[in-house]
Amino acid sequence: MRNVYLITLFVCVLAVSILGFRGTTFTAPPIDLFPDWAFPGMEVQPKHRPQAASDFFADGRSDRTPPARTVARGMLRDDDHLHLGKAADGSFAAKLPAAVTVDFALLERGRDRYQVFCAPCHGSLGDGNGMTKRYGMGATPTFHDPRLRTMPDGEIFNTITNGKNTMMPYADKLSPEDRWAVVAFVRALQRAQQGTVADVNDPAGKKTLGLP
Ligand code: HEC
Repeated sequence: MRNVYLITLFVCVLAVSILGFRGTTFTAPPIDLFPDWAFPGMEVQPKHRPQAASDFFADGRSDRTPPARTVARGMLRDDDHLHLGKAADGSFAAKLPAAVTVDFALLERGRDRYQVFCAPCHGSLGDGNGMTKRYGMGATPTFHDPRLRTMPDGEIFNTITNGKNTMMPYADKLSPEDRWAVVAFVRALQRAQQGTVADVNDPAGKKTLGLP
């Protein structure tokens, strides 16, 4: 019987010591079980953290401005068609760049990115009836408007890259290749709304749909 009191007391002390101090802030540094002098450089490393202060440089900042005209590896975007959607004469390119192969995988990628980044406003069908319309964002256009159907591919690419009026740019979220994939998918959406009976494969030469 005496043990029951002891065990209860023990459980209470254990619970308080484990749970009671959660979230408490301490001002003293924690006890260093493996001090840095025993394992040099393990905890205290001579490195600069991004946007931290530094005594080393005269301006007191750890960040350095890259030397003029330097380009990060793999970021030399010198293909205007691929990166700006522009043709050699500076006008918007009519079609996708040669570097992008239009195949099923590209359209699948485009569909995936479109659903994430465009469908909330432009709708899954591209008709401008996305979720945001319900919340009062009425200005989202449909892609099935003749102006947007005949617009050069490069101009759609440019809208995704730089945004337009109330539409935000998406260049920080979609790589140039992904933006072209979305352009291809937008074209597929437009095509899907323009089907005619002539598109139906009818090897027998007979219209079997009962349509005129
Ligand atoms: C937050 C809502 C929103 C999202 C997300 C959005 N758009 Fe838009 N988009 C708009 C609005 C609003 C306009 C109309 C801008 C204007 O002309 O005033 C527009 C216009 C456009 C146009 C027509 C531009 C023109 O020249 O008239 C295209 C093409 C377009 N968007 C494509 C896309 C694609 C592709 C995505 C996904 C990468 C996307 N949008 C994501 C809101 C959005």
